[in-house]
Amino acid sequence: MKQIIIEGNKSLSGKIKIGGAKNSVVALIPAAILASGNVKITNVPNISDKDALIEILKLLNVKVKKQTGIIEIDSSEIKNNVIPENLSNKLRASYYFMGALLTKFKKVEMYFPGGCNIGSRPIDLHLKGFEALGATVKKEEEDSKYIIEANELKGANIFLDFASVGATINLMIAATMAKGKTKIMNAAREAEISNIADLLNNMGAKISGAGTEEITIIGVKRLHGGEIKVIPDRIEAGTYIIMGALLGKNLVIEGMIPEHNIVLLNKLQEMGVDFKLQNHKIILNKSKNLNPTNVRTVVYPGFPTDLGQPMAVLLTQAHGISLFEETIWENRMGHVKYLNKMGAKIEAERQHAKITGPTKLHGEQITATDLRAGAALVTAGLIAEGTTIINDAEHILRGYERIINKLSSVGANIRITEI
Ligand code: UD1
Repeated sequence: MKQIIIEGNKSLSGKIKIGGAKNSVVALIPAAILASGNVKITNVPNISDKDALIEILKLLNVKVKKQTGIIEIDSSEIKNNVIPENLSNKLRASYYFMGALLTKFKKVEMYFPGGCNIGSRPIDLHLKGFEALGATVKKEEEDSKYIIEANELKGANIFLDFASVGATINLMIAATMAKGKTKIMNAAREAEISNIADLLNNMGAKISGAGTEEITIIGVKRLHGGEIKVIPDRIEAGTYIIMGALLGKNLVIEGMIPEHNIVLLNKLQEMGVDFKLQNHKIILNKSKNLNPTNVRTVVYPGFPTDLGQPMAVLLTQAHGISLFEETIWENRMGHVKYLNKMGAKIEAERQHAKITGPTKLHGEQITATDLRAGAALVTAGLIAEGTTIINDAEHILRGYERIINKLSSVGANIRITEI
């Protein structure tokens, strides 16, 4: 088990550069196998979820060349369309191989995807979409194994009951070479979706409307190689912005796209956080009298669910009562118990929380229950008096590249050990 150890209450000053988006790269890698040529992905973050996908590529006999921040993928000798359980359930984004392998081989066999334990996380919208495109879905081994196949994929009109990020991307991938026209309605609009569409279009796909509620895909016969730069990670940026609001001394977060974090920045303004926006960077200072506010996570461009947990830590330092509601995931309060152990005053029930602040936090031994809960605990450890030890820190490394180096370089006393 990896543990992160933090001696808290140190100012943060200097610069943190934001890396490529986790939620983009985990879809770009599976999408790349559709090309008959070489695909180059740049600005690739160094996170363990990316490594898990590369492991799957190797199993499929796809050639992968890696340099710092760059991956080149050559699928000319791809020969496998079966992903075993231990790799399928290593991460959530393995589900993008369903769409990609179904397109490539007209058949895929894999298991239910893994990922953070933040709710039931069904994949019914993905499967219904594949069926609409002409595939049949068979479930085996107590519904944990999926065999999806089609004689031919055919364009269709697909209305998503919920604007699911994963289903939107997976169906966009599966429709790129389907015969005719596909429309995905009530599509998710997350910035990452346009990044994936850009790669597919660079490979010769005909996708329009990505980033809006209606995406149109005209099927093409073949996709060639291409190149894409991963967009900056808006969740990583948002997490460091929150840390800067708590501990910044002219802390500069650079290499981000401020429009992708507009809702967070609006909330911070409402709370009275001291920040200045300049092109692709933001400069933050610790703010003394934070106002409480209410936060409700919703689909993009609303307040991102993935920042809800770090945001809760900021709310513990506001003067008064803040109300928090999580509307996307049913089980995203794993951090609350540990924040309360550290001195916070949070009353949580299911998807609602009432946070009373300000409360002084103190170091404790606590556990990261999932990726973003882990980020919240790191944030709490940074402002706490004394030593915080975070168990199961592997969760955090899935999505925050070089977090220890980045925070140490701006003055945090933080280290990681393996026990
Ligand atoms: C993605 C992100 C994750 C983020 C989430 C919401 C990746 C790899 N992960 O996850 O960080 O928290 O978007 O912004 O990009 N749903 C169904 N049936 C489905 C699919 C989803 O009911 O087939 C429900 C889910 O249970 C959840 C909601 O839709 O309540 C949102 O899920 P979705 O947008 O699909 O999230 P992910 O793509 O898994």
